[in-house]
Amino acid sequence: MAGNILKAHARTPVAPKPEFLWGVSTSSFQIEGAAHIEGRGDSIWDAYCRIQGRVKGGDTGDQACDHYHRYTEDVALMRDLGVNAYRFSISWPRVLPRGRGVSNEPGLAFYDRLIDALLAADIEPWICLYHWDLPQALDDLGGWQNRDIAGWFADYATLVARRYGDRVKRFATFNEPCVFTLFGYGLGWNAPGIADKAALHKAIHHVNLSHGAAVDVLRASVPDASLGAIHNRQPCFPRSASPEDANAAQRFAEYWNDAFPYPQQFGCYPSALADAIEPYQRPGDMAQIARSVDWFGLNHYSPHYIKADSNLIGATFGAPPDDVPRTSIGWPIVPGAFRDTLLDIHHRFGLPIYVLENGTAAEDKLDIAGGIQDAGRIAYLQAYTDAMQEAISAGADVRGYFVWSLLDNFEWASGYSQRFGLVYVDFDTQRRIPKASARWYSDLIAAPRESPISSATANSVNAIAAKG
Ligand code: FCB
Repeated sequence: MAGNILKAHARTPVAPKPEFLWGVSTSSFQIEGAAHIEGRGDSIWDAYCRIQGRVKGGDTGDQACDHYHRYTEDVALMRDLGVNAYRFSISWPRVLPRGRGVSNEPGLAFYDRLIDALLAADIEPWICLYHWDLPQALDDLGGWQNRDIAGWFADYATLVARRYGDRVKRFATFNEPCVFTLFGYGLGWNAPGIADKAALHKAIHHVNLSHGAAVDVLRASVPDASLGAIHNRQPCFPRSASPEDANAAQRFAEYWNDAFPYPQQFGCYPSALADAIEPYQRPGDMAQIARSVDWFGLNHYSPHYIKADSNLIGATFGAPPDDVPRTSIGWPIVPGAFRDTLLDIHHRFGLPIYVLENGTAAEDKLDIAGGIQDAGRIAYLQAYTDAMQEAISAGADVRGYFVWSLLDNFEWASGYSQRFGLVYVDFDTQRRIPKASARWYSDLIAAPRESPISSATANSVNAIAAKG
């Protein structure tokens, strides 16, 4: 069956879409459910959810949005939105239940079906290889603390590239490596729940090595692939005028913003990390990490206000100033920081930028007519897309914008308490109800416009026009 699908698509060349991409993003653990069927192995998040008190309300990913069984309905929702791209992640333990070795055909076939449904709806699939759900079997061997993981990750990337590379051209290696290493190994807030300095620094370096190794195998397996990594990047302002908070903010920014893009783009660690990583480095590592990529994937929600702390990096999140508005999850709303971040990335890294996550949680409630009037989310998205347009007008080469998220879903340690979707999910019945913001987003996508298109795209459009 899968073989036939592969053959059918081999006849139709698939290429990355050249136009500005309006998309939505999700991740495997947060939406798929079907956690214990058809051969899927446990991930570190399955195990973490079982530890009492780690996830709000004792919530788990067992059902999530049941996307595994409802993907056709979810692709239809995307088609109705009018998006031309969809970013999702592969569940590593669904395709390799023990993280390496024998693959799981039903799991692989699920993503065949999903990809084919997307292509049939003219939606470009974007695969992220790793959105935090490490196979538990690999964590039992040390997970990201074990240097061998670069080889395991490369083998997993090869499996994915060979299976889907005829139909998928966009691949991201990692989603927010700064978050899953810092929260998972440094501060103990996310799976696997470790708070240890050596664990954190080993994990950072091994994730970087894995990124480089995956870029190599993706290039080898899919010659026309368009590759990148997805980084969470945001200004880290000191919470107060004290020198302690100023130092803390600078140190925090190096872990948060630079620990991955710097080695991956420039082949070096920022100064706050260099000495700490040194014991785990071997000759040749930095060259292995600094592989050329095609774009910078950005996730951005808000700036941080950082204060000094006694934790192992000496810095943590502080409250924003009182006059800064916040979302229901407490995240500051500062669209200007988004504009500045886009311009900063443009100048610093010189790569095309895809915004692969932006959006907000809100206290969405069904009204008496059965709809959801999420005016706050619409205002947030309007302000942030306006800020993106400002950055584009000022020269930032932004090629796409993806809302987090298509569906309300499992928001990590917050469980199902935070709703980020354009589409409401009733988790008892799995009924999907597009919110007012879904209508707003489809109108935005459909609006006739000259822009947003990046200045680079505008130039190439002009060049094509000039050639007649
Ligand atoms: C990002 C994560 C994503 C989701 C959003 C709200 O940090 O990449 O999975 O949790 O935040």
